[in-house]
Amino acid sequence: MRTVKKAIIPAAGLGTRFLPATKAMPKEMLPIVDKPTIQYIIEEAVESGIEDIIIVTGKGKRAIEDHFDHNFELEENLIKKEKFEILDKVKQPANVEIHYIRQKEPKGLGHAVWCARKFIGNEPFAVLLGDDIVQSETPALRQLIRQFEETQSSVVGVQQVPDNETHRYGIVDPSTIEGRRYQVNNFVEKPEQGTAPSNLAIMGRYVFTPEIFDFLDKQQIGAGGEIQLTDAIQMLNEIQRVYAYDFEGQRYDVGEKLGFVKTNIEFALQNEEIRDELVKYLVDKVGQITVDA
Ligand code: UTP
Repeated sequence: MRTVKKAIIPAAGLGTRFLPATKAMPKEMLPIVDKPTIQYIIEEAVESGIEDIIIVTGKGKRAIEDHFDHNFELEENLIKKEKFEILDKVKQPANVEIHYIRQKEPKGLGHAVWCARKFIGNEPFAVLLGDDIVQSETPALRQLIRQFEETQSSVVGVQQVPDNETHRYGIVDPSTIEGRRYQVNNFVEKPEQGTAPSNLAIMGRYVFTPEIFDFLDKQQIGAGGEIQLTDAIQMLNEIQRVYAYDFEGQRYDVGEKLGFVKTNIEFALQNEEIRDELVKYLVDKVGQITVDA
Protein backbone atom coordinates (compact mmCIF):
# COMPACT_ATOMS: atom_id res chain seq x y z
CA MET A 1 0.00 0.00 0.00
CA ARG A 2 1.34 3.41 -0.96
CA THR A 3 1.35 6.13 1.71
CA VAL A 4 2.44 9.76 1.92
CA LYS A 5 5.79 10.86 3.34
CA LYS A 6 6.52 14.09 1.43
CA ALA A 7 4.77 17.45 1.59
CA ILE A 8 4.94 20.80 -0.19
CA ILE A 9 4.24 24.05 1.63
CA PRO A 10 3.87 26.93 -0.85
CA ALA A 11 4.95 30.19 0.78
CA ALA A 12 5.89 32.38 -2.18
CA GLY A 13 2.70 34.45 -2.56
CA LEU A 14 2.80 38.23 -2.41
CA GLY A 15 0.60 38.42 0.68
CA THR A 16 -0.93 41.66 -0.60
CA ARG A 17 -3.76 41.53 1.94
CA PHE A 18 -1.23 42.00 4.74
CA LEU A 19 0.86 44.78 3.30
CA PRO A 20 2.91 46.53 4.57
CA ALA A 21 3.67 43.71 7.09
CA THR A 22 4.52 41.39 4.20
CA LYS A 23 6.72 43.80 2.27
CA ALA A 24 9.93 42.12 3.45
CA MET A 25 8.53 39.02 5.17
CA PRO A 26 6.36 36.16 3.90
CA LYS A 27 2.84 36.15 5.36
CA GLU A 28 3.53 32.58 6.55
CA MET A 29 5.88 34.11 9.15
CA LEU A 30 3.16 36.27 10.71
CA PRO A 31 2.66 34.99 14.27
CA ILE A 32 -0.47 33.61 15.90
CA VAL A 33 0.25 34.77 19.47
CA ASP A 34 3.92 33.68 19.66
CA LYS A 35 4.39 31.17 16.83
CA PRO A 36 4.64 31.82 13.07
CA THR A 37 1.73 30.39 11.06
CA ILE A 38 4.06 28.12 9.09
CA GLN A 39 5.23 26.42 12.30
CA TYR A 40 1.66 25.31 13.10
CA ILE A 41 1.48 23.90 9.55
CA ILE A 42 4.79 22.04 9.90
CA GLU A 43 3.69 20.59 13.26
CA GLU A 44 0.47 19.31 11.64
CA ALA A 45 2.49 17.71 8.81
CA VAL A 46 4.88 15.99 11.25
CA GLU A 47 1.99 14.72 13.41
CA SER A 48 0.47 13.33 10.20
CA GLY A 49 3.55 11.22 9.46
CA ILE A 50 5.30 13.47 6.92
CA GLU A 51 9.10 12.99 6.92
CA ASP A 52 10.26 15.45 4.21
CA ILE A 53 8.89 18.93 3.63
CA ILE A 54 9.77 21.29 0.80
CA ILE A 55 8.88 24.93 1.33
CA VAL A 56 8.40 26.96 -1.86
CA THR A 57 9.72 30.41 -1.07
CA GLY A 58 9.76 33.74 -2.84
CA LYS A 59 10.90 36.90 -1.18
CA GLY A 60 11.86 36.75 2.46
CA LYS A 61 13.32 33.25 2.07
CA ARG A 62 15.90 34.01 4.76
CA ALA A 63 13.29 34.60 7.47
CA ILE A 64 11.79 31.12 6.98
CA GLU A 65 15.16 29.36 6.66
CA ASP A 66 16.54 31.11 9.72
CA HIS A 67 13.44 30.25 11.71
CA PHE A 68 13.83 26.51 11.12
CA ASP A 69 17.62 26.54 11.52
CA HIS A 70 19.70 26.25 14.71
CA ASN A 71 20.46 29.55 16.38
CA PHE A 72 23.47 28.58 18.51
CA GLU A 73 23.94 32.01 20.07
CA LEU A 74 20.32 32.18 21.20
CA GLU A 75 20.35 28.58 22.44
CA GLU A 76 23.57 29.09 24.45
CA ASN A 77 22.21 32.27 25.92
CA LEU A 78 19.00 30.53 27.03
CA ILE A 79 21.04 27.63 28.54
CA LYS A 80 23.20 30.11 30.50
CA LYS A 81 20.08 31.78 31.83
CA GLU A 82 18.51 28.36 32.57
CA LYS A 83 15.45 29.24 30.48
CA PHE A 84 14.91 25.62 29.46
CA GLU A 85 11.22 25.94 28.71
CA ILE A 86 11.87 28.66 26.14
CA LEU A 87 14.84 26.69 24.81
CA ASP A 88 12.48 23.85 23.90
CA LYS A 89 10.39 26.28 21.88
CA VAL A 90 13.25 27.50 19.69
CA LYS A 91 14.74 24.10 18.86
CA GLN A 92 14.46 22.78 15.31
CA PRO A 93 11.42 20.60 14.63
CA ALA A 94 12.38 16.94 15.19
CA ASN A 95 11.71 13.94 12.91
CA VAL A 96 11.49 15.96 9.70
CA GLU A 97 13.84 17.25 7.00
CA ILE A 98 13.00 20.69 5.67
CA HIS A 99 14.09 21.65 2.14
CA TYR A 100 13.65 24.84 0.14
CA ILE A 101 13.04 25.79 -3.45
CA ARG A 102 12.47 29.18 -4.97
CA GLN A 103 9.53 30.24 -7.13
CA LYS A 104 11.11 33.01 -9.15
CA GLU A 105 7.83 34.77 -9.90
CA PRO A 106 4.50 34.42 -8.06
CA LYS A 107 2.60 32.93 -11.00
CA GLY A 108 -0.02 31.24 -8.85
CA LEU A 109 -0.49 28.35 -6.44
CA GLY A 110 -0.48 25.74 -9.22
CA HIS A 111 2.87 27.04 -10.40
CA ALA A 112 4.29 27.03 -6.86
CA VAL A 113 3.39 23.33 -6.46
CA TRP A 114 4.85 22.58 -9.92
CA CYS A 115 8.17 24.16 -8.82
CA ALA A 116 8.62 21.25 -6.34
CA ARG A 117 8.00 18.47 -8.89
CA LYS A 118 11.62 17.18 -9.01
CA PHE A 119 11.72 16.86 -5.23
CA ILE A 120 8.50 14.83 -5.25
CA GLY A 121 9.38 12.52 -8.15
CA ASN A 122 6.94 9.69 -8.79
CA GLU A 123 5.24 9.37 -5.40
CA PRO A 124 2.05 10.57 -3.78
CA PHE A 125 2.48 13.76 -1.78
CA ALA A 126 0.67 16.30 0.37
CA VAL A 127 0.22 20.06 -0.01
CA LEU A 128 -0.51 22.29 3.00
CA LEU A 129 -1.27 26.00 2.83
CA GLY A 130 -0.61 28.44 5.63
CA ASP A 131 -3.93 30.19 5.03
CA ASP A 132 -5.75 27.74 7.29
CA ILE A 133 -4.80 26.45 10.73
CA VAL A 134 -6.84 23.47 11.91
CA GLN A 135 -7.29 22.27 15.49
CA SER A 136 -8.57 18.71 15.63
CA GLU A 137 -8.19 15.46 17.52
CA THR A 138 -6.71 13.75 14.45
CA PRO A 139 -4.59 16.21 12.42
CA ALA A 140 -6.47 17.33 9.29
CA LEU A 141 -3.72 16.06 6.97
CA ARG A 142 -3.64 12.69 8.77
CA GLN A 143 -7.38 12.35 8.05
CA LEU A 144 -6.72 12.93 4.33
CA ILE A 145 -3.78 10.53 4.27
CA ARG A 146 -6.06 7.83 5.73
CA GLN A 147 -8.47 8.44 2.85
CA PHE A 148 -5.58 8.15 0.40
CA GLU A 149 -4.44 4.88 2.00
CA GLU A 150 -7.96 3.50 1.64
CA THR A 151 -8.65 4.65 -1.92
CA GLN A 152 -5.14 5.16 -3.42
CA SER A 153 -6.69 8.27 -5.01
CA SER A 154 -6.06 12.00 -4.66
CA VAL A 155 -8.14 13.73 -2.01
CA VAL A 156 -8.74 17.40 -1.20
CA GLY A 157 -9.84 18.65 2.22
CA VAL A 158 -13.11 20.60 2.27
CA GLN A 159 -15.40 22.26 4.79
CA GLN A 160 -18.75 24.05 4.53
CA VAL A 161 -18.65 27.85 4.14
CA PRO A 162 -21.56 30.32 4.14
CA ASP A 163 -23.14 31.35 0.77
CA ASN A 164 -21.57 34.81 0.87
CA GLU A 165 -18.04 33.36 1.07
CA THR A 166 -18.04 30.76 -1.72
CA HIS A 167 -16.57 33.24 -4.23
CA ARG A 168 -13.33 33.32 -2.20
CA TYR A 169 -12.58 29.58 -2.52
CA GLY A 170 -12.17 26.63 -4.84
CA ILE A 171 -15.61 24.97 -4.65
CA VAL A 172 -16.58 21.35 -5.15
CA ASP A 173 -19.58 20.13 -7.18
CA PRO A 174 -20.23 16.82 -5.40
CA SER A 175 -21.96 13.75 -6.79
CA THR A 176 -22.18 10.79 -4.39
CA ILE A 177 -21.28 10.78 -0.71
CA GLU A 178 -19.95 7.96 1.52
CA GLY A 179 -19.64 9.15 5.14
CA ARG A 180 -17.60 12.35 4.96
CA ARG A 181 -16.10 11.49 1.53
CA TYR A 182 -17.51 12.84 -1.73
CA GLN A 183 -17.06 11.86 -5.33
CA VAL A 184 -16.83 15.03 -7.35
CA ASN A 185 -18.20 16.13 -10.74
CA ASN A 186 -16.32 19.41 -10.93
CA PHE A 187 -13.88 21.63 -9.07
CA VAL A 188 -14.47 25.35 -9.70
CA GLU A 189 -12.02 28.09 -8.67
CA LYS A 190 -13.63 31.17 -7.07
CA PRO A 191 -17.10 30.96 -8.68
CA GLU A 192 -18.93 34.28 -9.05
CA GLN A 193 -21.37 35.08 -6.23
CA GLY A 194 -24.59 33.12 -6.60
CA THR A 195 -23.11 30.55 -9.03
CA ALA A 196 -21.35 28.13 -6.64
CA PRO A 197 -22.42 24.49 -7.15
CA SER A 198 -22.24 23.82 -3.36
CA ASN A 199 -20.90 25.26 -0.12
CA LEU A 200 -18.03 22.77 0.10
CA ALA A 201 -14.86 24.85 -0.07
CA ILE A 202 -11.30 23.57 -0.56
CA MET A 203 -9.34 24.30 2.61
CA GLY A 204 -5.63 24.17 1.91
CA ARG A 205 -5.00 20.49 2.64
CA TYR A 206 -4.46 18.08 -0.27
CA VAL A 207 -3.03 14.67 -1.09
CA PHE A 208 -2.14 14.07 -4.74
CA THR A 209 -0.96 11.27 -6.95
CA PRO A 210 2.07 12.44 -9.00
CA GLU A 211 -0.10 12.55 -12.16
CA ILE A 212 -1.22 16.04 -11.05
CA PHE A 213 2.11 17.26 -12.48
CA ASP A 214 1.04 16.19 -16.00
CA PHE A 215 -1.59 18.93 -15.78
CA LEU A 216 0.49 21.50 -13.93
CA ASP A 217 3.08 21.04 -16.71
CA LYS A 218 0.60 22.69 -19.09
CA GLN A 219 1.05 25.99 -17.17
CA GLN A 220 -2.50 26.96 -18.07
CA ILE A 221 -3.51 30.44 -16.88
CA GLY A 222 -6.79 30.50 -14.94
CA ALA A 223 -8.83 32.76 -12.62
CA GLY A 224 -7.07 36.00 -11.62
CA GLY A 225 -4.43 35.51 -14.37
CA GLU A 226 -2.71 32.84 -12.21
CA ILE A 227 -1.79 29.19 -12.78
CA GLN A 228 -4.45 27.64 -10.56
CA LEU A 229 -4.08 24.38 -8.67
CA THR A 230 -7.87 23.90 -8.81
CA ASP A 231 -7.80 23.79 -12.64
CA ALA A 232 -5.20 20.99 -12.58
CA ILE A 233 -7.30 19.11 -9.99
CA GLN A 234 -10.32 19.38 -12.27
CA MET A 235 -8.29 17.93 -15.20
CA LEU A 236 -6.88 15.14 -13.00
CA ASN A 237 -10.42 14.26 -11.90
CA GLU A 238 -11.28 13.60 -15.54
CA ILE A 239 -8.72 10.78 -15.81
CA GLN A 240 -8.59 9.42 -12.23
CA ARG A 241 -10.87 10.01 -9.28
CA VAL A 242 -10.14 12.94 -6.97
CA TYR A 243 -12.19 12.76 -3.76
CA ALA A 244 -13.25 15.61 -1.50
CA TYR A 245 -13.13 14.84 2.23
CA ASP A 246 -15.03 16.95 4.76
CA PHE A 247 -12.40 16.77 7.50
CA GLU A 248 -13.22 17.09 11.18
CA GLY A 249 -11.78 20.01 13.11
CA GLN A 250 -12.02 23.69 13.86
CA ARG A 251 -10.50 25.63 11.01
CA TYR A 252 -9.13 29.12 11.44
CA ASP A 253 -8.82 31.35 8.41
CA VAL A 254 -5.56 33.25 8.84
CA GLY A 255 -5.18 34.25 5.18
CA GLU A 256 -7.15 37.48 5.55
CA LYS A 257 -7.06 40.29 8.09
CA LEU A 258 -10.24 39.74 10.12
CA GLY A 259 -9.70 35.96 10.28
CA PHE A 260 -6.11 36.54 11.35
CA VAL A 261 -7.11 38.87 14.20
CA LYS A 262 -9.91 36.52 15.34
CA THR A 263 -7.50 33.56 15.34
CA ASN A 264 -5.02 35.50 17.45
CA ILE A 265 -7.77 36.21 19.99
CA GLU A 266 -8.93 32.56 19.98
CA PHE A 267 -5.40 31.21 20.49
CA ALA A 268 -4.63 33.84 23.11
CA LEU A 269 -7.75 32.72 25.01
CA GLN A 270 -6.33 29.16 24.96
CA ASN A 271 -3.02 30.38 26.37
CA GLU A 272 -2.95 30.07 30.17
CA GLU A 273 -0.23 32.68 30.54
CA ILE A 274 -2.35 35.53 29.16
CA ARG A 275 -5.93 34.24 29.18
CA ASP A 276 -7.25 35.80 32.41
CA GLU A 277 -5.85 39.27 31.75
CA LEU A 278 -7.09 39.15 28.16
CA VAL A 279 -10.62 38.19 29.24
CA LYS A 280 -10.68 41.14 31.66
CA TYR A 281 -9.46 43.44 28.92
CA LEU A 282 -12.00 42.19 26.36
CA VAL A 283 -14.95 42.42 28.77
CA ASP A 284 -13.92 45.94 29.67
CA LYS A 285 -13.41 46.89 26.03
CA VAL A 286 -16.73 45.43 24.85
CA GLY A 287 -18.50 47.37 27.65
CA GLN A 288 -17.19 50.59 26.10
CA ILE A 289 -18.27 49.80 22.55
CA THR A 290 -21.59 50.92 21.13
CA VAL A 291 -22.57 48.99 18.02
CA ASP A 292 -24.56 50.71 15.27
CA ALA A 293 -27.93 48.98 14.73
P1 UTP B 1 -2.95 33.19 -1.53
O1 UTP B 1 -3.60 33.77 -2.70
O2 UTP B 1 -3.77 33.01 -0.29
O3 UTP B 1 -1.68 34.01 -1.06
O4 UTP B 1 -2.24 31.84 -1.93
P2 UTP B 1 -1.09 35.35 -1.54
O5 UTP B 1 -1.18 35.45 -3.02
O6 UTP B 1 0.26 35.46 -0.92
O7 UTP B 1 -2.05 36.38 -0.78
P3 UTP B 1 -2.75 37.70 -1.28
O8 UTP B 1 -3.98 37.22 -2.00
O9 UTP B 1 -1.78 38.45 -2.15
O10 UTP B 1 -3.06 38.44 -0.01
C1 UTP B 1 -2.35 30.63 -1.21
C2 UTP B 1 -0.98 30.07 -0.87
O11 UTP B 1 -0.22 29.87 -2.05
C3 UTP B 1 1.04 30.50 -1.97
C4 UTP B 1 0.89 31.59 -0.92
O12 UTP B 1 2.12 31.86 -0.29
C5 UTP B 1 -0.15 30.98 0.03
O13 UTP B 1 0.46 30.13 0.97
N1 UTP B 1 1.38 31.03 -3.32
C6 UTP B 1 0.48 31.75 -4.02
C7 UTP B 1 2.64 30.77 -3.82
O14 UTP B 1 3.48 30.10 -3.17
N2 UTP B 1 2.96 31.26 -5.05
C8 UTP B 1 2.07 31.99 -5.79
O15 UTP B 1 2.43 32.38 -6.92
C9 UTP B 1 0.81 32.23 -5.26
